[in-house]
Amino acid sequence: MRQKQEEIQTYDTQVINTVRQEEAGTIQGAKLIQAGELVAFPTETVYGLGANGLNGDAVAKIFEAKGRPADNPLIEHISKKSDVRQLWSRMPKQAQILMDTFWPGPLTLIAPKSDIVPDEVTAGLDTVAVRLPQNKTARALIAKSGVPIAAPSANRSGRPSPTTAQHVMDDMCGRIPLILDGGPCKYGVESTVLSLVGEPTILRPGAITREMLAAVIGEVHVSNSILNPMKNGEVAASPGMKYQHYAPNAEVVVILGTPEEAAKRINALYREAEAEGKSVEIAATKQTKQYYRDKRNTVLGDRNEPETLCANLFAALREMDTRAELILAEGIPAEDEGLAYMNRLLRAAGFRVIDASKE
Ligand code: TXA
Ligand code: MG
Repeated sequence: MRQKQEEIQTYDTQVINTVRQEEAGTIQGAKLIQAGELVAFPTETVYGLGANGLNGDAVAKIFEAKGRPADNPLIEHISKKSDVRQLWSRMPKQAQILMDTFWPGPLTLIAPKSDIVPDEVTAGLDTVAVRLPQNKTARALIAKSGVPIAAPSANRSGRPSPTTAQHVMDDMCGRIPLILDGGPCKYGVESTVLSLVGEPTILRPGAITREMLAAVIGEVHVSNSILNPMKNGEVAASPGMKYQHYAPNAEVVVILGTPEEAAKRINALYREAEAEGKSVEIAATKQTKQYYRDKRNTVLGDRNEPETLCANLFAALREMDTRAELILAEGIPAEDEGLAYMNRLLRAAGFRVIDASKE
């Protein structure tokens, strides 16, 4: 039998720094998008891997390049609010006020799709996710392309999302023609995904929190699967939630408890693993660094400012992965932006959790 060939086209991947050359970079990017090719670009959340969002064949290349399961739908990115009308068959009643309050920014809204949205984007669903990013380069690229850009995060499927152009290069070198390098991403976790089909429900938490949304539209539900693994046979509200995500090669374990409880347990686990000959690293916080003086650790940020932890999580996971077989990470309360942090961290850990408050 003939060996199955990897059919993916290879490219000499070019990187253009859009901090210095935004005009040249976005012109080049728009040409590729119009020609049905893929372009990686910065957003304020994570880097996206974009294709012409109205061209099913172009969008199919995203799934190939990422190795993404075909049943996981993509987000359409637009450069001005009025462009949402061509993508949705109707405006849900809460949509306008949400768009006026949070767009441009890290909020994705889901509503019934129009006929022009290809099935490749929605993975056959009758709804489509849309977002107007804040990042200037992203908006310039979309505007110059003259079409909405369908884009997931620009990582190989299952890996931590990329928050620098180098992360994109590490995952996508040779698989795509162009990366626009706009420097590190501001938020570091993906946008909040809010479904407006039925009761407003957060399918994925992000920098726009439940509290911020509720202040504008009243009650907002939070999907069950945000902090829990999917049960067998359960139907995913958002297909992305059923996959192992954000995972480095190292084993990640989350330790819950007060800073002192967590640090004590982490130190014990560290010694045990080291005695077994494993390389270990601690994902620490400003509050606990003092407890890990003689151990390998990386400070991700401040427990009282979860957005600082979010901003560093994916980059730190990629970095620690180069040194450690086991990553011991402190959990924090899943409140406000801490919800987004714990959602990503628990998935990176495959839901391996130790509660240090219970001896
Ligand atoms: O911040 C972001 O949202 C980044 C940047 C590049 O914009 N994009 C991103 O895309 O994170 P992706 O594909 O990695 O995540 C999109 C998520 C997935 O969990 C997917 O299942 C969900 O949104 N999603 C997309 N369309 C959906 C739909 N019609 N119904 C339910 N969930 C949907
Ligand atoms: Mg992703």
